[in-house]
Amino acid sequence: MELSDAILMRRTTRSYEPRQISSEDLNTLLTAAHMAPIAGANYKMTHMTVVQDVKLLNDLRQTCMMKLQGEEKYRDAFYGAPTVIFFSAHGISKDCIEYSNIGCAIENILLAATDLHLGSTYIWGCLRKLRKHPELIARLQLPEGYEILSAVAVGYPTEPLIRREPSENISVNRI
Ligand SMILES: Cc1cc2nc3c(=O)[nH]c(=O)nc-3n(C[C@H](O)[C@H](O)[C@H](O)COP(=O)(O)O)c2cc1C
Repeated sequence: MELSDAILMRRTTRSYEPRQISSEDLNTLLTAAHMAPIAGANYKMTHMTVVQDVKLLNDLRQTCMMKLQGEEKYRDAFYGAPTVIFFSAHGISKDCIEYSNIGCAIENILLAATDLHLGSTYIWGCLRKLRKHPELIARLQLPEGYEILSAVAVGYPTEPLIRREPSENISVNRI
């Protein structure tokens, strides 16, 4: 797929099939993250934890239930995705550059997933809840001193991705 097509086809998937992605596809996604820009090439600041274990994912789902805007019911914040990759960092600096590093890695994953016709979701809101459960975080086996900042869910979307028309979503001034 051309990059310009992947950019227009990417969208946030909020409903996944339960079937797992192949290990080959997972490796492609991880390579995309490894190749992302990281400030000062300080790669050690960031860590990825791939969760595909059904029991652990279900326990995480139970804890990370969320309401979408305008919805009454709590629902699985990972939308049934069979793979969730958690991003953690070693401490948060004053300028929060760790979030930017992780944002770059996640965007690479979102585009690489789209290229494979996989759905993907940037996960943020529910992690607030997860942080209140140290026993669950311990099961993620993070390196010492790392804390979870973001995650990305991936899997087969229940509806195929379709190419969107470009739209001007962000205000721009040109000087
Ligand atoms: C930093 C960040 C955090 C996000 N957190 C969530 C989230 O927790 N749950 C979710 O369903 N979508 C989340 N999203 C996805 C956005 O809601 C989504 O990108 C936006 O609605 C635009 O839709 P699109 O991705 O389909 O273009 C997040 C996106 C970003 C960039």
